[in-house]
Amino acid sequence: MMDRKEFLVKLGLGVAAIAFMDTLQGCSKNTPSPNNAPAALNVNFTFLLTDATYAALRNVGGYVYTNGVIVARTATNTYIAVAQACTHAGCDVVYELQQNDFYCPCHGSVFNASGAVTVGPASYSLQLMTVKVTGNSVNVHS
Ligand code: FES
Repeated sequence: MMDRKEFLVKLGLGVAAIAFMDTLQGCSKNTPSPNNAPAALNVNFTFLLTDATYAALRNVGGYVYTNGVIVARTATNTYIAVAQACTHAGCDVVYELQQNDFYCPCHGSVFNASGAVTVGPASYSLQLMTVKVTGNSVNVHS
């Protein structure tokens, strides 16, 4: 037979467990559904490296966001571009010069320079764009 004190202890644990479960559910309700196949971007735009908006690309390792795309300057002075929205839940990825990859700060997914997933939880690649540089002019297209 359970005495009153034992009952209250068990009740307390039950309430704590329920409160914890509610907290977990609350988080998941506020997080976008992860890993839905991303819609393909259809882009074709050109900008000048001399434009102040793109000044970050004058430096190795610099990157900019434009038209839903992240454009980055690699250690070999080439430019690469992929869709900026992480395929897990849509956060903007950042370019990592040392690894030459794209990292998502929200849950840690990593994509290589071609946009392929190397570390989850993302399971879909970032869409790779074609970049063509002519003098100071950079064209990016899907
Ligand atoms: S949004 Fe979750 S890893 Fe990018």
